[in-house]
Amino acid sequence: MSLVAAPMTIVDLATSAQLQQQQQAMEVEEDAKAEQQELGAGEQELSYSILMKGVRHLSDSGITRLPDRYVLPAPDRPGAGLATTTSTSRVKLPVVDLARLRDPSQRAAVLQTLDAACRGYGFFQVVNHGVDGAVIAGMLDVALRFFELPLPERARYMSPDVRAAVRYGTSFNQAKDAVLCWRDFLKLVCHPLRDVVAAWPREPAELRDVASGYAAASHGLFMELMEAALQALGIAADGGVLGELAAGSSHMMTVNCYPACPQPELTLGMPAHSDYGLFTFVLQDHVEGLQVMHGGRWLTVDPIPGSFVVNVGDHLEIYSNGAYKSVLHRVRVNSTRPRISVASFHSLPAERVVGPAPELVDEAAGKPRRYMDTDFATFLAYLASADGKDKTFLQSRMLLHGAAAAASSIRT
Ligand code: OGA
Ligand code: NI
Repeated sequence: MSLVAAPMTIVDLATSAQLQQQQQAMEVEEDAKAEQQELGAGEQELSYSILMKGVRHLSDSGITRLPDRYVLPAPDRPGAGLATTTSTSRVKLPVVDLARLRDPSQRAAVLQTLDAACRGYGFFQVVNHGVDGAVIAGMLDVALRFFELPLPERARYMSPDVRAAVRYGTSFNQAKDAVLCWRDFLKLVCHPLRDVVAAWPREPAELRDVASGYAAASHGLFMELMEAALQALGIAADGGVLGELAAGSSHMMTVNCYPACPQPELTLGMPAHSDYGLFTFVLQDHVEGLQVMHGGRWLTVDPIPGSFVVNVGDHLEIYSNGAYKSVLHRVRVNSTRPRISVASFHSLPAERVVGPAPELVDEAAGKPRRYMDTDFATFLAYLASADGKDKTFLQSRMLLHGAAAAASSIRT
């Protein structure tokens, strides 16, 4: 059309875009105002949409009372039953010293410590592992800074897809939890590392570099500990399952944020659960919170700075035909100190069927197979089934139920 009309059109477009922007800004402001009113409304229960923004958002908003959706029934609260126990319920977990494990003259002694820890607590701490202190400090720092980003920047990674390479969310099993947990999380799939990093958050700017360096270090330690565990179990390490793991493993990292909580005695950061996988490595900051079930009691793990807390997962209990224990654990929160942890879950590829190692089953010698075979599809089917309410996944795979654990929750 004419040259005169063209600038008008441009102006019109610009105006409507500006109007639209203004309109959107006003709507966001209205939402924020309504939310502020809701958050400050004392006894009134908060809407689902606010709760799904996570606990960091709630904590930052300065609420002084725990919203009802986070209040556990009395028997499930962290202090339930404690009046009847006498000790202070703290535990120094067995220590596996990797420098000694790497020394041929001391390896046998360390294998014994590792073996006893996996049969007993199902948990141990790894020290002298050789992972650079800067890698560990960098990981905790970038984790902390991710949760300090404005909510919209974090929220772009929310996804209902449990297989997504990156997933930000809140609680434990967000879609299903009747009572929500006081935790926000960022889940990063770490395999194959080269391919997935581009899907990870772009903020903070160092996250991809730091977290991929950390993931590679964690995987290296996992392989070393698996080799040691197989040796301790008397399973030939060459080829076999170790070879399979070297060719391809599943590796997921969960960065957990447990903000200060107004009424920590009424809720949990994570409910009692066992981990799916072979070994889990937990890196925690200096704030305690992780508790381990042992001898019918909850014991609080003393954080050793710079160490990893390692635990046996369901796959290793199954693979070891019950010799090594995948033990229930949970996370308590507190009213003053926010806590950050990074959990790395290592296992065989998802499609690999896991069953007891043939070397450990001998019906004639009184060593019957104690678990059914399982794979990730079985796990997902279990999650979708009603069974999840009162049995653990592990229990659902048991052929002999002598060692049945207490009820627990399950998540994706
Ligand atoms: C987990 C877990 C413990 C913690 O992520 O499975 O148990 O201290 N984490 O955050
Ligand atoms: Ni766990």
